[in-house]
Amino acid sequence: MKTLFALILALCAAGYAATTTAAEGPAANAQVLLLQKHLGKGLSCNGCHQENPPATPVKTGQCLSCHGTYEQLAEKTDGKGAVNPHGSHQGDLSCDSCHNVHKPSVNYCSQCHDFELRVP
Ligand code: HEC
Ligand code: HEC
Ligand code: HEC
Ligand code: HEC
Repeated sequence: MKTLFALILALCAAGYAATTTAAEGPAANAQVLLLQKHLGKGLSCNGCHQENPPATPVKTGQCLSCHGTYEQLAEKTDGKGAVNPHGSHQGDLSCDSCHNVHKPSVNYCSQCHDFELRVP
């Protein structure tokens, strides 16, 4: 039984290795920046940046122009985790309190709370 289990594990690992490269493994996935996620959906730099070439940070209003209102965002993430990052006593925070595009995102709430938020 033990050896069968080990064999199944090995097969799964082999299948997994075949579909992902080292650079795209789970550890790397956690690091995928929002930039790559947006470019991967066909957006260009100017999907977010108004000026060409980009020179200034992108403001919350620009993010909302595609992602809807704060209320709509809060509906999307309601009940997904322990707390709703888009609907809290902190009000309508600017997106960059948590989401960064060119560098890893951060958990703004962790200044005061220790619940886990995985910010994409
Ligand atoms: C999803 C929206 C988005 C896209 C797409 C995007 N950016 Fe940005 N960019 C931002 C945000 C937000 C910032 C502020 C810093 C951060 O969040 O990492 C920024 C900051 C910058 C800055 C620094 C401005 C400063 O603060 O001095 C440059 C330069 C820049 N982006 C260039 C680009 C280029 C080039 C592309 C295309 C390859 C691009 N950006 C695509 C959102 C975006
Ligand atoms: C031009 C339209 C557009 C703009 C502007 C834009 N986004 Fe997006 N964003 C998208 C699309 C399209 C997707 C992929 C589909 C989806 O998940 O909604 C996406 C996905 C996301 C995701 C989910 C990523 C994941 O893990 O699936 C986050 C978070 C996000 N955007 C944040 C931002 C922030 C923050 C800004 C402003 C700096 C921004 N977006 C600006 C179009 C946009
Ligand atoms: C307090 C931190 C925080 C702030 C501020 C914040 N977000 Fe998020 N956002 C998150 C977290 C955490 C998730 C992942 C939620 C989940 O899937 O459980 C998320 C998910 C998202 C998603 C994916 C939603 C889905 O599941 O389809 C989008 C799009 C998004 N955020 C856009 C924004 C935009 C635009 C702003 C600014 C108006 C913003 N967020 C502000 C923390 C934040
Ligand atoms: C400056 C500190 C601070 C920040 C930042 C902060 N909180 Fe709070 N939060 C508090 C305090 C203080 C209370 C009330 C005391 C308590 O019950 O823990 C509270 C209470 C809460 C509660 C209800 C109490 C409970 O545990 O049932 C939730 C949910 C919550 N916060 C979510 C958030 C979320 C989501 C964020 C990020 C968007 C956030 N908080 C950011 C200080 C903060």
